[in-house]
Amino acid sequence: MIIAIDGPAAAGKGTLARRLAEKFNFAYLDTGALYRAVGLTLLKQGIDPTDTKAAEAASTDLDLGLLDDSDLRAEATGGAASKVAAMPAVRANLLDFQKNFAKRPPEGKAGAVLDGRDIGTVVCPDADLKLFVTASPEVRAERRRLEMEGRGQRADFDAILADVRARDERDMGRKDAPLKPAEDALLLDTSNLDIDAVFLRAVALVQERLKPQ
Ligand code: DC
Repeated sequence: MIIAIDGPAAAGKGTLARRLAEKFNFAYLDTGALYRAVGLTLLKQGIDPTDTKAAEAASTDLDLGLLDDSDLRAEATGGAASKVAAMPAVRANLLDFQKNFAKRPPEGKAGAVLDGRDIGTVVCPDADLKLFVTASPEVRAERRRLEMEGRGQRADFDAILADVRARDERDMGRKDAPLKPAEDALLLDTSNLDIDAVFLRAVALVQERLKPQ
């Protein structure tokens, strides 16, 4: 069983995906982390993340050790990830890894949950369940602000909102695999739902799919 979860930045897809994977003993892949690792490679080398050649090279020979780097979740890394994610060669280089993970989850796992921007449309078009998780830009910016404050980081709502909007525009506006719901995706707007409510709704959907037909 494959579950595809897509949606814009800070909509809560990561938390939802992780909790679903734990509940159903599925493997979990945060595909945004792969793009972040490419972006972070360039930032660490002092290379501009719009440098296509360098991004292509970083994605060909991806340093998986960066997935555990403490800077992986930084805002700057997210911004760089969104830039390299617009490059077709980078996307192509990361596609096989994602497809293989979905097809052959690690031993002992009953299925896979992948979250990202193009899982239901490109990576796993045949997924058993596709969820598109959204929330208004203001709600997402506020969640991010609280998250940053919780980590003891300085957080300015207006700056975060501007960043969220810029990322949305880049992720939805790019030519290759833009962020959009698959035709058969179920929309979950989390603007007025807390994570527990979203989780319960998603669990019910998965259980429905797991029932023998
Ligand atoms: O989900 P995230 O914030 O970690 O993702 C970082 C960036 O990576 C995001 O702005 C767009 C890109 N991305 C993508 O293009 N396709 C995916 N499947 C996952 C992420």
